[in-house]
Amino acid sequence: MSIGWSNDPVERSGLPVLRFMNVEKEYPLGDGRVRALDGLTLDIPRGSFTAIVGRSGSGKSTLLQLAAGIDRPTAGEVFVEGQPLSRLPDDALTRLRRKRVGIVYQFFHLLPTLDVRENVALPLLLEGVPERDALARADALLAQVELSPRARARPHMLSGGEMQRAAVARALAHAPALVLADEPTGNLDTRSAARVVELLATLARQHRATLVLVTHSPEAAAAAERVVTLSDGRVADDRPVARGTGA
Ligand SMILES: Nc1ncnc2c1ncn2[C@@H]1O[C@H](COP(=O)(O)OP(=O)(O)O)[C@@H](O)[C@H]1O
Ligand SMILES: [Mg+2]
Repeated sequence: MSIGWSNDPVERSGLPVLRFMNVEKEYPLGDGRVRALDGLTLDIPRGSFTAIVGRSGSGKSTLLQLAAGIDRPTAGEVFVEGQPLSRLPDDALTRLRRKRVGIVYQFFHLLPTLDVRENVALPLLLEGVPERDALARADALLAQVELSPRARARPHMLSGGEMQRAAVARALAHAPALVLADEPTGNLDTRSAARVVELLATLARQHRATLVLVTHSPEAAAAAERVVTLSDGRVADDRPVARGTGA
């Protein structure tokens, strides 16, 4: 069986990068179960920037985990670039995540024993890209997030904002189709938060990646083109962000 991606650019661009169809996700809890997603249906078009908002426990992180293929739904189907993930065995799901998805977490998840550029190069090294090329790509991305002077520092030497900018560079390193960010500004001051969101949006656009940003911040959500509100594991609201002139 072949599980390759279509090489036809027209066919690929026509598909939503991410599609949730009637997705349910239950977790075991004590003797019972908790339903994190409850019939979620959502299309994310290629190249778009969507913010996902909603109260704590509404299912936002679960949505991202399923989109990344880190976990599987209890029912329904998740498609990434047209591929139904339920048909992929675990190793293919891991390959998909490594090749096509970039993730930014609230708490950065940088490896403490690697320096910043090695952290950024890691997704490429895992794919078998030669070290010289991977480090050159990391250097270019670090320049884009204005971290070149910190390239040889270990993560613990960086400020929160700098760590998150490094994590943004890492998420884009392997040119993913889909960038998922789970409250990436939750641990940052207002100014660093704004910079991280701006960099995410700019880099995603430049690299033609689709961006899905989970956030509690109204400012961050306002940077998106569309805001989807989750409530009890379903889409409660879905609207474009108004772009007033001078507002
Ligand atoms: N690994 C898990 N085990 C059990 N329950 C979980 C797990 N992950 C999430 N949940 C529950 O699923 C619901 C949705 O969680 P989550 O997706 O983390 O929401 P959000 O990111 O919007 O806060 C919550 O009730 C949460 O407690
Ligand atoms: Mg969450």
